[in-house]
Amino acid sequence: MSSLQIRKIMPNFGAEITGIDLNRPLTPQQEADIIAAIAEYGVCVYPDTGLTDQTHIWFSRMFGNLWTIAGQGTRLSRFDYPHLFDAGNLTHEGEISTDEMARKRRKGDRLWHTDSSFTKERTTYSLLLAHEVPAEGGETGFADMRGAYDALPQAMKDRIENLEAEHSYNYSRMLAGFPISREEVEKGMKARHKLVHIHPGSGRKSLYIASHMLRIVGMEEAESDALIKELLDFATQPQFTFDHHWKPGDLVIWDNFCTMHRGGDYDDVNHRRDMRRTTVMAYPPPPVVMDPRFRDRFDPAQFEAMVDA
Ligand code: OGA
Ligand code: MN
Repeated sequence: MSSLQIRKIMPNFGAEITGIDLNRPLTPQQEADIIAAIAEYGVCVYPDTGLTDQTHIWFSRMFGNLWTIAGQGTRLSRFDYPHLFDAGNLTHEGEISTDEMARKRRKGDRLWHTDSSFTKERTTYSLLLAHEVPAEGGETGFADMRGAYDALPQAMKDRIENLEAEHSYNYSRMLAGFPISREEVEKGMKARHKLVHIHPGSGRKSLYIASHMLRIVGMEEAESDALIKELLDFATQPQFTFDHHWKPGDLVIWDNFCTMHRGGDYDDVNHRRDMRRTTVMAYPPPPVVMDPRFRDRFDPAQFEAMVDA
């Protein structure tokens, strides 16, 4: 029996979790139940958490090493902690940003994606906390990549089983209208990952796809573009997706290895949105992989193989 109260959002995807105070030190049983829930449901919504920057970061550390913004010590973000990624629209002074370039760059997050697929090391869990939300819009959509994989026709499963894609952050910015040329995209950072992998934590096969995908490796451009579109369209059909409508204090955890997400439109010129994210590095593998409590859940060898891909 789980120590958590779990309400499913979709039949096999997403859960709302209550009956726990994430600001307090957790018992080993509570930690184990939190890990089990994210492994099973892919997205876990914890409403009305009352988390602060400090307790958000503190809680996140249980999952593994946290991503930090480059250039620690310099004030690159508006936060006091380098572990927080800014998914909102405010300036360092806390006003609505009027920076047109920053707005255009943020538009890229409104395309379906999984975080950090454009890096070799990647990130496993993202933990996004709402501080201020717009009155209308700004919901986040989530898509089930294990369910989508399971539902693919066998011929498509066979076709993509051993294919790899190149992922680029700049490519998804270009798609969203950010002024960057194809040459710059090609010259910039790219990472290569398999389209299908085994999701650590559930052992189920999952699509690993995103709007960051620039091309399928070794495929002619028209065919590659068509396959990328077909997979993204298939995987984001209504039967695989739901929207989360935020309230301040909501924490949503998603597993980047078995989900995609996208930000919803909102009036970001006139409405404040303050959303802060911690993100767990996939490499080195999170300590939960080696934790004796999860011996039945994680196969370290499988995890290593995936991280090296
Ligand atoms: C993210 C992201 C979308 C949103 O934080 O990784 O894509 O709705 N956010 O804020
Ligand atoms: Mn994202």
